[in-house]
Amino acid sequence: MKTLITNGTVVTASEAFRADVLVEGEHISAVGASLDVVADKMIDATGRYVLPGGIDVHTHLDMPYRDTTSADDFESGTIAAAFGGTTCVIDFATQFRGQTLHQARDAWMKKAEGKAVIDYGFHMIVTELGAAVEREMDDLVREGITSFKVFMAYPGSLMLDDGSIFRALENSGRNGATICVHAEDGVVIDALVRDALAAGHTAPRYHALTRPSTAEGDATRRAIALAEMAHAPIYIVHVSAAEALDAIHEARKRGLPVFGETCPQYLFLSDEHYEAPGFEGAKYVMSPPLRSKDAQAHLWRGLASGDLQVIATDHCPFTMKQKAMGSDDFSKIPNGAPGIETRMSLVYDGGVRTGRISLNRFVDLTATSPAKMFGLFPRKGTIAPGSDADIVVFDPQKRMTLSAKTHHMRVDYNPYEGREVAGVADTVLSHGRVIVEKGRFVGRAGSGIFLRRSARSV
Ligand code: URP
Ligand code: ZN
Ligand code: ZN
Repeated sequence: MKTLITNGTVVTASEAFRADVLVEGEHISAVGASLDVVADKMIDATGRYVLPGGIDVHTHLDMPYRDTTSADDFESGTIAAAFGGTTCVIDFATQFRGQTLHQARDAWMKKAEGKAVIDYGFHMIVTELGAAVEREMDDLVREGITSFKVFMAYPGSLMLDDGSIFRALENSGRNGATICVHAEDGVVIDALVRDALAAGHTAPRYHALTRPSTAEGDATRRAIALAEMAHAPIYIVHVSAAEALDAIHEARKRGLPVFGETCPQYLFLSDEHYEAPGFEGAKYVMSPPLRSKDAQAHLWRGLASGDLQVIATDHCPFTMKQKAMGSDDFSKIPNGAPGIETRMSLVYDGGVRTGRISLNRFVDLTATSPAKMFGLFPRKGTIAPGSDADIVVFDPQKRMTLSAKTHHMRVDYNPYEGREVAGVADTVLSHGRVIVEKGRFVGRAGSGIFLRRSARSV
């Protein structure tokens, strides 16, 4: 099967040029001016960008939380991703206490197989560490799972102690893996939460008030110090606070291999949302919480300067019925918000169109750099002969109003409800097959494959 995408502007992390793109089977076979080829399918990309498919390296699909799970499974979540121009996700697979890493990996494989419509990989969340788990980490790296996540928050469930984090970092330093860290001071936050509840403060806004930006900055500094002592690289997930970005900036200035990710919610939404009436603020209960508008400006500077390398989503949707688990106690509101579908349009509209980042940097932050960071480049993350044909024909002029009425995520609210954006994924290909066309999903559940990843290449 040959597909020819004609007359578009091909955009990579470093270039933008008029060219046709030829896809043969699952791969890109040629990129050039006026390719003279007879193809089975022609896609006219006149006036549009031809982008490498977005890569979202931070999702929580079908993630257990107490007696429920996040609202999108691997089918609904990856379909929503595809509509938004994302063609690859790396989801977090949790080692629940008492489990081996392989048991956790197998559980997540089952969740994804037969469902995912785009390719996927896993980061393993390590919640218990000993010699046996360290050996498993080595095995998993050989099996293509080259990144792990540790939590400095959520004591009693997900949090790992500093000694174990240090060991995990040492291990990854030896075997070429990357440790991702959720950096918030869990023990201090727990004390603040207990104080708030004891004072009768149960509303959603207290979620944010008990997770101050200092707790994120302090944990980020501690995580970086642990990585420095372990001589290992470190990747800080969902950076929201100026204090955390400052810690990353200082470490990078000293030449340390410290990397950071932020998410659209921290760039476009602020803590004013917690002042919404009634239980509305629960929509924005996520960790870390939304910050001030000043912090947003700081994060944009971090993206422009290169201190932050990736924009992912932390897609972790819960319906308002699920959020109601915490209607009389904010600490029981499931943490997380939807975003897998809206990332590319939001970042294009609010980043490129406003002049905060260049078009190439947009591609870099949403596709190329995530691919390099997590061992997928050049198979994914660029438009070049030999790469997987994960391609998005993106219309920079087309406008769309973000809304729960029209989105494809399986959740009854949209954090950006009513926001108009310009820049929409028109046609989406996942290794050579069109899966979104003319506003319709035309792919197939189960066509996405598990990606065996190599080591970081940045
Ligand atoms: O609130 C969030 N971010 N929920 C998902 C789990 C995590 O901490 O990343
Ligand atoms: Zn996290
Ligand atoms: Zn997360």
